[in-house]
Amino acid sequence: MTALFITFEGLDGSGKSTHLREAFRWLEDNDVDCQVAQEPGGTPLGEAIREMFLDPRWGEIDGTVEALLVFASRRQHLLEVIEPALAEGRHVICDRFTDSTFAYQGYGRGVPISILREVDRLATGGRVPDRTLLFDLPAEVARQRGHSEARRESEEGVTRLDAEALEFYGKVRQGYLELAQEFSDRFVVIRSAGTFESTQQQVRSVLSEIFRLEK
Ligand code: TMP
Repeated sequence: MTALFITFEGLDGSGKSTHLREAFRWLEDNDVDCQVAQEPGGTPLGEAIREMFLDPRWGEIDGTVEALLVFASRRQHLLEVIEPALAEGRHVICDRFTDSTFAYQGYGRGVPISILREVDRLATGGRVPDRTLLFDLPAEVARQRGHSEARRESEEGVTRLDAEALEFYGKVRQGYLELAQEFSDRFVVIRSAGTFESTQQQVRSVLSEIFRLEK
């Protein structure tokens, strides 16, 4: 089987990162050779960009500046980690990729999608995930989860984007749903407002189909 590039996408508070960790363990138990990655980040340079990108000290940064930061991190990540892993035949499961930039900087901040597509061609050579799991839930629910005590006490604490108004997250969610409709052959929408178990069940069902496993 050719190595696959799978991405997990969704709002902050959608649960995608927790489900990605759980899915990774489950895939390992099922002898699927894969590695996980995260954006922005995934390399030493990318982690430095991530720290800068999320630092609440900068307040609201211009959307184009944000896009250039995440694309810089992404190119390094592709060159150093993602492309070599795929070339060696290992599947890569990535927590966010270019769809995050379309949703957050494009739909959320208003940077024209046509420009983001051009920068994407430069930064990634147009690398598109084979499949994308979109963790969808109402923006209000995602905000409540995102502002939870657990999040505040996490290593990164409250980040720059956590301070965004609900309206911003509404636009980002809408953007994700439009992307899922436009690229319906690649996207699968996971309903993630319910319990952890019901969401993980949907994830396993999709991954079983992708990796041809028993459910
Ligand atoms: P994370 O907490 O899911 O790792 O994401 C970090 C934040 O970065 C999250 O608020 C979404 C934001 N982000 C963008 O705005 N654009 C991007 O391209 C990426 C990858 C993340």
